[in-house]
Amino acid sequence: AARPREIKLVIIGDSGVGKSSLVLRFVTQSFKPFSESTIGASFMSKVIELDGQTVKVQIWDTAGQEKYKSLAPMYYRGAAAAIVVYDITRRESFGTLQRWVSELQEKGPRDLRIMVAGNKKDLEGDRQVAAEEAEAYAESIGARYMETSAKDDMAVQDLFLSLCQQVPLV
Ligand code: GTP
Ligand code: MG
Repeated sequence: AARPREIKLVIIGDSGVGKSSLVLRFVTQSFKPFSESTIGASFMSKVIELDGQTVKVQIWDTAGQEKYKSLAPMYYRGAAAAIVVYDITRRESFGTLQRWVSELQEKGPRDLRIMVAGNKKDLEGDRQVAAEEAEAYAESIGARYMETSAKDDMAVQDLFLSLCQQVPLV
């Protein structure tokens, strides 16, 4: 048994939570303070090493704006892993995240591995959702919770790698 050579990963959440910024940080180790809102979806890939095996992570970065909501199934279909993101400084985005998780549970792939991410941890002073609350929620859906900052590069590599690590061997 080995890991699949390619892992399809989708990243989902409200507009502005930092999905594209997390992907950019993971893939190119950079950050854009004036990131443009994604139109439709965008794609990036990165080759990683998992337990000595080379794996290509194919990342579909979805658009969070409401008008693109109906496109999401095209991107989560066939995915092995999903990162659902909210912004710790915007409670509303935590509600949106929970609605996305419900949709993934109802309509997503059966063995989809989900990671809950609270982004913008560098803005601790503006926090609207306690880490304990998000952690309890993640536990209730059988997922892990991590807090990240795409801006300050906190836990971003770990977020993607530990999710890929959870993808079952084939
Ligand atoms: P959509 O494409 O519209 O769905 O948004 P998105 O989730 O891809 O958000 P995006 O990555 O474009 O980031 C939105 C804004 O938040 C940008 O101005 C980013 O620079 C900023 N941002 C992203 N991540 C962080 C972070 O960790 N900390 C801070 N302070 N700002 C961030
Ligand atoms: Mg985006």
